[in-house]
Amino acid sequence: MRPQPPEGVRELDLEKPNAARMYDYFLGGSHNFAPDRALAAQVEQVTPWVRHIAGINRAWLRRVVDFLVAQGIRQFLDLGSGIPTVGNVHEIAQGREPDTRVVYVDYEAVAVHHSHELLRDNDKATVVWADVRQPTSVLEHEETRRLLDFTQPIGLLCAGLLLFISDEYDPAGLLATYRDACPAGSYLAISTMSQDEADPATAEQLADLLKLYEMADERIYPRDKATIESWFAGTELVDPGLVLLHQWRTERSAEGDPLWTQHEASPARLIGYGAVGRILG
Ligand SMILES: C[S@@+](CC[C@H](N)C(=O)[O-])C[C@H]1O[C@@H](n2cnc3c(N)ncnc32)[C@H](O)[C@@H]1O
Repeated sequence: MRPQPPEGVRELDLEKPNAARMYDYFLGGSHNFAPDRALAAQVEQVTPWVRHIAGINRAWLRRVVDFLVAQGIRQFLDLGSGIPTVGNVHEIAQGREPDTRVVYVDYEAVAVHHSHELLRDNDKATVVWADVRQPTSVLEHEETRRLLDFTQPIGLLCAGLLLFISDEYDPAGLLATYRDACPAGSYLAISTMSQDEADPATAEQLADLLKLYEMADERIYPRDKATIESWFAGTELVDPGLVLLHQWRTERSAEGDPLWTQHEASPARLIGYGAVGRILG
């Protein structure tokens, strides 16, 4: 059955630039439209390295999924999963362990429909059309319940999501609700944007990027490191803790990390933090 739009989730508006579709554009995808590309082009003018942000984040996500599968995780809840692109969570996880189950969640119509098409023949992965700010609509969704067993450890992924969720929606409270739905031994993975380690030139470029995103249908909210760390309450951070994305287990990936090494000299490496926490009992 095709996914149904949940109540209250906004209609598809192809005239307004959308952050999910701009991210797809930065990753070289084709699920974006003229207004998305027009604003993305302006963003590239002020931050010529913006594509690297997407690449570094995807590379981090891939390493996280590899790590979690190696820890025995066989089910994932991917919040704000985005428009599918090369190296999706189910491809990585099921490539290692074919029985791994994956529930993708997004509220952007193009992301949901494209995910649905892609997963048509995959009975162990699905997409839920929901707003993650309403956790019950995600956790109680029949597709979530069909694929995920909440008595067994879950990999809770929040990659590149929380930068779009303002404090008004209480990210810490939302995360606590998702965390508490998962049993001890589950993992919480977060990547998000921060200006803490940006040099002055990069910070200035980033300020211009943030201004441009005010024209998109989602704004971006960078956070300081202490705030991001506080989101891991109730978990024990795995080594190396909360670090810039390129510092997270890059050296441990068997084949090196081509996506990351391409961007070794990019300012983009200074503005993303990531960590993985093991959920405590
Ligand atoms: C930058 S993309 C990240 C995609 C993917 N997780 C990754 O790391 O490559 C952020 C995604 O979060 C989604 N998103 C933002 N706010 C959301 C919300 N409140 N509920 C569901 N999805 C949301 C956007 O639609 C977009 O697809």
